Amino acid sequence: MLTKREIVLGVTGGIAAYKAAEVCRELIRRGAEVQVVMTPNATRFVTPLTFQALSSRPVVTDMFAPWQEPGIGHIQLADRAELVLVAPATANLIGKIASGLADDMLTTLIMATKAPVLLAPAMNVNMYENMIVRENLKKLLRRGYLLVEPAVGELACGWEGKGRLAEIEDIIEEVEHALSPKDFLGKRVMVTAGPTREPIDPVRYLTNYSSGKMGYAVARVARRRGADTVLISGPTALRPPTGVRFMPVASARDMFKAALKEAEWADIIIKASAVADYRPLKPVTSKIKKSKGQEKLTLELTENPDILFEIGRRKGERILVGFAAETSDLVKNARTKLKEKNLDLIVANDVTQPGAGFGYDTNIALIVDQEGKAHRWPQMRKVDVAEKIFDRIQSLLEKKKKQVAKKG
Ligand code: CTP
Repeated sequence: MLTKREIVLGVTGGIAAYKAAEVCRELIRRGAEVQVVMTPNATRFVTPLTFQALSSRPVVTDMFAPWQEPGIGHIQLADRAELVLVAPATANLIGKIASGLADDMLTTLIMATKAPVLLAPAMNVNMYENMIVRENLKKLLRRGYLLVEPAVGELACGWEGKGRLAEIEDIIEEVEHALSPKDFLGKRVMVTAGPTREPIDPVRYLTNYSSGKMGYAVARVARRRGADTVLISGPTALRPPTGVRFMPVASARDMFKAALKEAEWADIIIKASAVADYRPLKPVTSKIKKSKGQEKLTLELTENPDILFEIGRRKGERILVGFAAETSDLVKNARTKLKEKNLDLIVANDVTQPGAGFGYDTNIALIVDQEGKAHRWPQMRKVDVAEKIFDRIQSLLEKKKKQVAKKG
C-alpha cells in the first residue's frame, strides 16, 4: 500500500523524537518515499544525519538555508506530499497549527499542504490533559486533522499516564488507513479469525495451529478501506487491530453464537477462522488425573456446528467469503466447500506449503468464484492477500449493482 507514496515525516522537539527514527525506518521498509522535516528543537534530540541515513534524502531543517529552499522548497514539499505525519507532535506544534502560526519549515509546510495531516502527540500527561492542548486538538480534529492518540504508560519524565508516543505499529496503521481508498465506506464487514478452543477439563483443551494472522489482516484492510468492521476472534497472541470492533471468543459454540448474531448486521462476511470441527463430548469440571497403569485414554468427541454453512443458509443479499485449509486436492476441495456452504468466493491454501497458512506472515492462496474459476496468487503478505480479496469483493458488488440496474 505504501509503495512509492510520498510522505513527509515531521519531527518535533520532544524526547520521543528518537522513536521517529523507527517510524521512518518502517515507512521506508513498506516502500514509502519519506522526506523528513525537523524543527530546530528536534535536531537537539536526534541529529538530521540519522534520518538522512534512513531515508536516503537530505533532511530539511532550516527555512532560510539556500540549498534547502531552491524554488520555494516548502511549497514544493507541501504540494508533493500525499500525507504529512508528525511524530512526535509536541504541545507547542499542536498549539502553533491550531493558532495558524507558521514560523518554521514544518509549520509552514503544514499550513501550505492540501494533503491529510496525521498527528502523533507525545508529551507529559499533565501537558496532554491541559485544557488548552485539549481544545487545540479538538479544533484540529474538527478541521479534519487526523490523530493517533498517545498510549498510556510510563513516561520519560517519570510520570505515569497518557502521553507516550503511540506504538510504531499503530502509527503506521493510521498512515495506511489515511492513504487507502475508502471504497467500502458505508459497508459493514464481519470477519472471523483464529482458532477455537474446545475444553477437555479445566486445564486442557483441543485446538489447532491457526495464528489468526490472515483474519486480522482481513479486518485491518476492511477498516482501512472504510468499512465498519467487526472482528470475532478465537484466542490468538495478536493485538486487536485499531478502529475495529473486537469480539473475543473461545470455543466453536461461542463463535457460532457471536457470528450468527453479527452476520445479521453485516453486508460482507469473511470467515477466516479455523473452527474445530469436533469438541470433547463431555468436558469435565475437575482435572483428569493420571491413573497408574492406565496406558490409553479415549476422548469421545462430538461434532461442532458448521458456522459458515449456517450463515450460508441465511445469506440473503450478503457477500460471503470462506477460507479452505487443505493438505491436498486444493481446487477440488475448495469448489466443493464453496457450493456446499453457498459462498460467493473461497480462498484456499495448502497449509503444508512453506510460506502459506498457519503462523506465516505470507500466504500462497488461490481464489475460486461461483463459476468454479480458480485463480492462483503468488506468495504474498497476508495483508496483500486481504487487499486482493477486497478487490474481488468490489468487482462482485459492481456486478450486482449492474444486474439490479438492468432489472430495474
Ligand atoms: N468453518 C466453519 N465452521 C466449522 C468449520 C469450518 O465456519 N465448524 C468455516 C471456516 O471458517 C472456513 C470454511 O468453513 O471458512 C472451511 O473450513 P475448513 O476447516 O477448511 O473446512 P471444513 O468445512 O471444516 O471441512 P474439512 O475439515 O473436512 O476440510
